[in-house]
Amino acid sequence: MPPISSLDLVASDSWRQRSELSSMADLPPDLDSAMSALDQQFWVSTAKLKDIVARFREELKEGLEKEGGNIPMNLSWVLGLSSGREKGRFLAIDLGGTNLRVCLKDGSGHGPNGKHTLTQTKYTLPATLKTSSADHLWTFITDALATFLSDHNLSDKYTTAPSHRLPLGFTFSYPATQHRIDHGILQRWTKGFDIAGVEGEDVTAQFRSHLAAKNLPVDLVCLVNDTVGAMIASAYNDPQTIAGAIFGTGCNAAYMQSLVREPASVPKLELREDEWEALDREGKQTGQETVKMAINCEYGAFDNALRVLPRTEFDDAVDRESPRPGEQAFEKMSAGLYLGEIFRLVLVGLVRRELLFTQNSKSMSKDGGELGKEAEERGLEKLKKPYTIDTGFLSAIEDDESPQFRQTRDLFNKILHLSPSDPEIEFCRRLAELIAVRGARLCACGIAAICLNEGIQQGHVAADGSVANKHPKFKRRWAEALGEILDWGDGNDGPIRLTSAEDGSGVGVAVIAAMTLERAQRGVRIGMGES
Ligand code: GLC
Repeated sequence: MPPISSLDLVASDSWRQRSELSSMADLPPDLDSAMSALDQQFWVSTAKLKDIVARFREELKEGLEKEGGNIPMNLSWVLGLSSGREKGRFLAIDLGGTNLRVCLKDGSGHGPNGKHTLTQTKYTLPATLKTSSADHLWTFITDALATFLSDHNLSDKYTTAPSHRLPLGFTFSYPATQHRIDHGILQRWTKGFDIAGVEGEDVTAQFRSHLAAKNLPVDLVCLVNDTVGAMIASAYNDPQTIAGAIFGTGCNAAYMQSLVREPASVPKLELREDEWEALDREGKQTGQETVKMAINCEYGAFDNALRVLPRTEFDDAVDRESPRPGEQAFEKMSAGLYLGEIFRLVLVGLVRRELLFTQNSKSMSKDGGELGKEAEERGLEKLKKPYTIDTGFLSAIEDDESPQFRQTRDLFNKILHLSPSDPEIEFCRRLAELIAVRGARLCACGIAAICLNEGIQQGHVAADGSVANKHPKFKRRWAEALGEILDWGDGNDGPIRLTSAEDGSGVGVAVIAAMTLERAQRGVRIGMGES
């Protein structure tokens, strides 16, 4: 039996001891016991983190062994890190959860001595796009691209003739099977996307046919996951980069996997003899003893079989109501898209039990039915609406230092039309903390598993995404959990650290496009197709 750590002892103790928040009001006994129960459900002890990591390591390994594992471990065909000398003019587009970004990278290098310029435009995705059709999606993207090219006087400088096109890198932050770097079959939509006619299809073929229909003078050179882009963009300025991780709407990471032939480090990678020889040549030319390939783990899908994750009834509800129940189990407990929704579901449950917002909720039905008219008039209908609360709301109330938590009161008023009492504010602050802490602690498991499997003992994890960047306490909580998992004590001084990624979506994919063209010139066309 593993030894009991001091943190586990605290875990069996009161929630108050674990909270970092200063206290404002005592909770009435029924809210206090509700909080104790929630704490039991949401707190992930050190021992549990270690169990999760053990299973995580197995799933990562299975993903490298065969196609179709639970964690896909997608091959990216990005070989090695960038030299930092890549030069030229490249277009980059990034299809994110809320925006489409188009970016032009011009010049040489991208490190401290590099001379490059970046021009970027953000186009907000219409809310309806997420559930529309393939045709709508590609039309929106190619329209934005056409606007960008014309706004920057690029349309006339290039033609559609093969050698006169502007090279384009596509950051596609969804799981895709890539037989080549310039192609990708969407395995499934994640992050609430549900666009018909794309799953199981080659997204690059669909995109190319829309580019051709519009006569756009661009050449799609590579399709890259956001995690891979973040890693490559950051590795240049920071040679200690060991992985790229996104803690945003979704959660996922990429790392560089050594390609060893015997015993096979990636058994599912089937290369011909001449391809292994080309890899050897590539290693010699680029000074790598063993060539490495970026692997996009897609570990948001970890434990879809629910063997080890400590799921609560609220996680079950998030999953049930999502467009893809049974998928992205890990992501649905830890990523930004879902944290606010989990919070909302807990509140709704307590309102139904008449434990919270009692001034507003007299007529909310206890059996979970529709809100009564009176409650609607009082504003509780806002709380009833899925995804009304985002992660920004959670971090704002957790970090509120205004007198009497004025900011929190204003937020409740503005977003939910509620006026919580002092104990209700106290309760909500602690709940926000509980959910965010669980998310950060779970997030540490993925990187711990990668590092343990790869024997990585130190380095920087280039992190991007709204949770990593906008939630001030996330990085520290993540580091503490990593320290517990790897037995370092306080992980904030540990040898594996989270750093802020360079803008992965723009620089990363443009650099990868440049690396790809340079590799083709060197004649190492593995994972590139024939032409
Ligand atoms: C989801 C996507 C994955 C992406 C991550 C972060 O998990 O499936 O491809 O990297 O979100 O954006």
